[in-house]
Amino acid sequence: MSPDTGRRQVLALVGSLRDESWNHRLARVVAGLSPPGLHVEVARADLPLYDADADADHGRPQAVADLRSRVEAADGLVVVTPEYNYGLPGVLKNTLDWLSRPAYASPLRDLPVTALGATPGPGNTGRALAQLTQVLAGVAAAQLPWPAFAVGSVGDLLDGEGALVHEPSGRRLRAQMEAFERWISAVEVFRAA
Ligand code: FNR
Repeated sequence: MSPDTGRRQVLALVGSLRDESWNHRLARVVAGLSPPGLHVEVARADLPLYDADADADHGRPQAVADLRSRVEAADGLVVVTPEYNYGLPGVLKNTLDWLSRPAYASPLRDLPVTALGATPGPGNTGRALAQLTQVLAGVAAAQLPWPAFAVGSVGDLLDGEGALVHEPSGRRLRAQMEAFERWISAVEVFRAA
């Protein structure tokens, strides 16, 4: 929690590096509609490929060190990701690997996490989000016990500027982020026990 504002700090990690990414736009929407107690900043998963030697020698690339610091400072993480070939995009898995050491003592351990995914296609991102659940279990993250917002035809929800134009989705996203705020409080009790 920020001592200045009293708001919890949440990082929204986007699993797409594309300039016009729908998931990046969705992350910005989430940042805008989250409850006032949460301050959400959007981050790109733009890191070099994972190298266990560099990780073990504390020779982490600067971009990795910077992102790790941001995650360490965060009270929660929102992952917003597309699905690639029925799975998790490599850039996101790579980023989670960089954040995952030391095993079970990493910045991801006991960190509250919730997830969303968007595709402009007719399906949704459910398979990628299922894989994400598995990866987050492997790093002992504290996943919000709430169905992820997995949405297809996202072009019907967001306009050309990336603004949300589908109020039922707005209600759904607000409910998820309100639940996430309560979850962060609950996990704080668990972490202190
Ligand atoms: C895709 N896309 C895709 N969509 C989906 O729903 N299931 C899938 O398995 C895949 N596979 C896939 C593989 C690769 C390599 C690409 C480039 C794309 C389509 C994908 O949802 C679409 O490109 C989104 O726009 C990607 O998200 P961003 O970049 O807009 O956030």
